[in-house]
Amino acid sequence: MTILESAFHELYGRKAEVLSEAPGRVNLIGEHIDYSEGFVLPFAIADRTYAAIARNNVGLVRIASQQRKKRIFTIDIKDIHPGSAGEWEKYVLGVLWSLGINEGVDILVDGHVPSGAGLSSSAALECSVAVGLNLLFELNLSLADLARATQKAENDYVGMPCGIMDQSVSLMAHEGSALLLDCRDLTTESVPFDVASHGLELLIIDTQAHHALVDGGYAERRASCESVAAKFAIPSMRHLTMEVLEQRRHEISETEFIRARHAVTEIKRVGDAVIALRASDFVTLGKLINQSHISLRDDYTVSCLELDVAVDAALATGALGARMVGGGFGGSAIALIKADQIETVKESIKSAYAQRNLKAPRFFTSLPSAGAKASLNPH
Ligand code: GLA
Repeated sequence: MTILESAFHELYGRKAEVLSEAPGRVNLIGEHIDYSEGFVLPFAIADRTYAAIARNNVGLVRIASQQRKKRIFTIDIKDIHPGSAGEWEKYVLGVLWSLGINEGVDILVDGHVPSGAGLSSSAALECSVAVGLNLLFELNLSLADLARATQKAENDYVGMPCGIMDQSVSLMAHEGSALLLDCRDLTTESVPFDVASHGLELLIIDTQAHHALVDGGYAERRASCESVAAKFAIPSMRHLTMEVLEQRRHEISETEFIRARHAVTEIKRVGDAVIALRASDFVTLGKLINQSHISLRDDYTVSCLELDVAVDAALATGALGARMVGGGFGGSAIALIKADQIETVKESIKSAYAQRNLKAPRFFTSLPSAGAKASLNPH
């Protein structure tokens, strides 16, 4: 029995029926374009959230976490609707709601994805519960269906207007590869991502910064893209080219123009990055990563001091490429570096932070890992 299974038994007085898990992610390239029907190239990290689940036949949903041992959140299954109670439990309630579960369940989760670091701990939580419920209730939903359901949980239940990248990669990733995801139809391709055999390492830098702009700023960027699409009468930024954007520049505001320019150029960079990766051309990949950061910083304006300082220090110490990842306004950055320079790069970022009196950053590395899975409890 695992620690999670015994803890479940101790907490709820019976054994878990289903055990499941789902990873967090970093995104190599393709930022803020999932909600514009773009392509993205994330990979799943090794850190994941684990869930143990069983039916309880009393019509209650009980949720607990190994990280907050004293609390069991309890709600009647009939009372689950957007706006009902809960803190982090909302991510779990949202999944129950979007999957249409109407029987009571007991859930215990154990989260190992650093939260607030922009590594999608929320998607890991949602997806671990979703694959578990899919098995427990024999819903037979595909991974694409589960991605849509978990995104719906976050959009309509939690109230965060996120795209579909984080949930998709948490569900669909393959070990050793980045996932090229077409956010329009959720088709995927695995792109082998093996930096180690080229003497490289992908360093993840958690800036430990969380700026207040996170939610409003994200929604505002998304709204700009939707507004440009509406003015141009096209479904999304996917249908725009730089040529058309330039020609019709006078029809939109300057802010809308630069937001759209980010989307159009970033979609192109993802395609170029896949070509570079397939050719093991890490120099070109590094350049594309840098261009992505500049576009996010200057056109999309979702970077912040902590992210820029980390990126600049990494580049000044010889990184092939570095950029912010995720929604921005804090969270993490990545740097593609020579493996033997890892300590030098870390030191240089640490000292750049210290010089500006910023809270010390945290560092991670991770191999590309497998997506979510669930199994019936054998014990
Ligand atoms: C957050 C969202 C994703 C995506 C990224 C930016 O992680 O949850 O859907 O939009 O920001 O690429």
